[in-house]
Amino acid sequence: MEERTLIILKPDAVKRRLIGRVLARFEDRGLNLIALKLFRLSDVDAREFYSIHADKHFFNELIAFITSDPVVAGIVEGRDAVNVVRMMIGNTNSPKAEPGTVRGDFGLGTTDNIIHASDSPDSFEKESKLIFS
Ligand code: CMP
Repeated sequence: MEERTLIILKPDAVKRRLIGRVLARFEDRGLNLIALKLFRLSDVDAREFYSIHADKHFFNELIAFITSDPVVAGIVEGRDAVNVVRMMIGNTNSPKAEPGTVRGDFGLGTTDNIIHASDSPDSFEKESKLIFS
């Protein structure tokens, strides 16, 4: 099924000049980038974006990290895009991510894990409204 999903290349990906290499993986897989922007997430938008994690112990660290430098947000479209992209990015905790996945090949940690991707079509709707409104 044709689907859309949202990706955010986090500050570690931008600082380490990995934007092109990460985006190329999705294009190589036959997915299409239909929107793309480089910007800095505000504290307010970051808290809204990650509000589902507001009560978690890592929330403050996550917000500080994601707002620390520019990010690249994109909308990726293709067959089963939500699941395909989630599989391609790998485990949240980079040291546990399989080689061949984005986090398994480039990620250093759990906070600095290179990329976020929507975990469901519902999340995509909410996240893309906030990021691309
Ligand atoms: P992401 O896919 O962007 O969604 C929530 C983020 O919280 C996650 O990636 C991680 O970067 C971050 N995070 C930090 N610590 C944890 C943790 N212990 N468990 C899950 N996510 C964490």
